[in-house]
Amino acid sequence: MVNPLNVEGANPFEIAQEAATQIAKISGISTHDIALTLGSGWAKAADLIGETVSEIPGSEIIGFSKPAVVGHVGTIRSIRLPNGKHALVIGARTHFYENHGVRSVVHSVRTAAAAGAKTMILTNGAGGIKPEWAGGAAVLISDHINLTASSPLEGATFIDLTDLYSKRLRDLARTVDASLDEGVYVQFRGPHYETPAEVQMAKIMGGHIVGMSTALEAIAAREAGMEIMGMSLITNLAAGIQTTPLSHAEVLEAGRNAEARIGKLLAEIVTKL
Ligand code: HPA
Repeated sequence: MVNPLNVEGANPFEIAQEAATQIAKISGISTHDIALTLGSGWAKAADLIGETVSEIPGSEIIGFSKPAVVGHVGTIRSIRLPNGKHALVIGARTHFYENHGVRSVVHSVRTAAAAGAKTMILTNGAGGIKPEWAGGAAVLISDHINLTASSPLEGATFIDLTDLYSKRLRDLARTVDASLDEGVYVQFRGPHYETPAEVQMAKIMGGHIVGMSTALEAIAAREAGMEIMGMSLITNLAAGIQTTPLSHAEVLEAGRNAEARIGKLLAEIVTKL
């Protein structure tokens, strides 16, 4: 199937608007207030934050593709929160390493904005540079370093990224769990995990978390004017910090072990938004 986002002359914002219109039609919810992208380990939160109004396979919505990775969920859910607000929960994340282009990577974020969302919660499973995060810590993202050598912004679109990850939302998250630590997320292209030398580079640069998703999405969310919260589940210590080899199986297992705990945490945060 041809991805319309990659067709020459396509306008990614118009396609996102069309996707939002499709979601509104299928779900019967015309406006969503907040959106969440649920990465590795976070899927359970969708069951805990409210009542599912509609669950749509990503493949039914324009511009979304099937998940390329075992353990990633390919659906878009419309959920009614206990406070009456509506959340759009995106399990159909496209990663930069899938080579569908950066427009595809941020299509879900642009669709969420077109669906009305003013708040974007981006979650992921990631490697931790701080040894005290071993064992599945949930960590707030305070800032990022984008090492993908790419941007979702096209042309002379100069966007301020100061306070990209909202301090207000980080403070709000800490009213739910005062012990939440925070760190700088470093996005690598992947799909290989980093080498120990790359992890040391990230650390020297000021990074604390290494991953393959969130930074590009956050930039697009800021362009769309949304307030952003980022959270990582530390599924493993980063290469060379942990002495054992990294594996996707380990990442998935850490996600399974943490999902009830972090799902509940996220559900409590979302009700306070
Ligand atoms: N590096 C990059 N991405 C990841 C990691 C990691 O160590 N763990 C889970 N996703």
